[in-house]
Amino acid sequence: MTRSSAPGKVYLFGEHAVVYGEPAVPCAIERRARVGVERRDDDKLRVHAEDLSLDGFTVEYGGRTDDRPDVDVSESLIEAAMGYVDEAIAQVREVTDEPAAGFDVTIESDIPLGAGLGSSAAVVVAAIDAATRELGVTLPREELADRAYRTEHAVQEGQASRADTFCSAMGGAVRVEGDDCRPLASPELPMVVGFDGGAGDTGALVAGVRSLREEYDFAADTVEAIGDVVRNGEDALAAGDLDELGRLMDFNHGLLAALGVSSRSLDEMVWAAREAGARGAKLTGAGGGGCVVALDPTAETETALRYLPGCEDAFRAELADEGVKRLE
Ligand code: PMV
Repeated sequence: MTRSSAPGKVYLFGEHAVVYGEPAVPCAIERRARVGVERRDDDKLRVHAEDLSLDGFTVEYGGRTDDRPDVDVSESLIEAAMGYVDEAIAQVREVTDEPAAGFDVTIESDIPLGAGLGSSAAVVVAAIDAATRELGVTLPREELADRAYRTEHAVQEGQASRADTFCSAMGGAVRVEGDDCRPLASPELPMVVGFDGGAGDTGALVAGVRSLREEYDFAADTVEAIGDVVRNGEDALAAGDLDELGRLMDFNHGLLAALGVSSRSLDEMVWAAREAGARGAKLTGAGGGGCVVALDPTAETETALRYLPGCEDAFRAELADEGVKRLE
């Protein structure tokens, strides 16, 4: 058995606009997916998943996701989870030149699914890393990130940026602009995450922004304005200027809301954080529901979010300096 873990992430700046070539700055957080992989004697794939916001399921199949696991959870969630593992293993078979390799895969994750914290990227990065190492191949982190990106790109039908997968593989704060991905120096940031218990439909939200952008010049300008906010945010990050970072996060949230990707519960969490004294707060990821990230060195924001009826969970998110971890 070979095991790897990989972190989830928040977007400090730039989600959605990154799809149109603007820069984005995601930041890895200490919430991880852990994947254990054992080679089988045959070419089948058996996947056991825990904590993927569902009760846990096991499924064994010999190729595509034909067999449905017998559990009472939404088909789309299972299809999503299985689709990512399936495609990740296809990448592993290709890069190791072992087209008939079969595996038992065990997934544990403490990152809520589809909530803007990069759960799928973390599972994919950890799965590819563990499975390639199980076959005796250790990929450099950049190549691991690239294979994980190809996986997401295939599963999400072309609607994926390199941001999540690069960040999860490398750790820390990173900057992604098109195919250009690089690590950024980052101070320790006092991040607090609020989670409304829900999830957004990334594909539909990305499509919504795309059509607004095509219909209205001012929507296209809004996407470009997010790019400007990100560039300012990079300077604030380099200077360790928390007040400026917070102001820019507030601005970024307003622009995302204008593009229609916020929600009542996300807005309520953002306002609760601001009123509790956070330096700034914004939604993270695709939006529609899921998580917000706020900057607050005190305990006030976390406490305020915990008491907010629409917030299911609130926690302090430490920066994950290390991306993929090779456990054994
Ligand atoms: O919700 P997440 O963590 O999958 O992030 C989606 C971010 C988008 O910019 C909306 C899409 C992308 O692939 O970059």
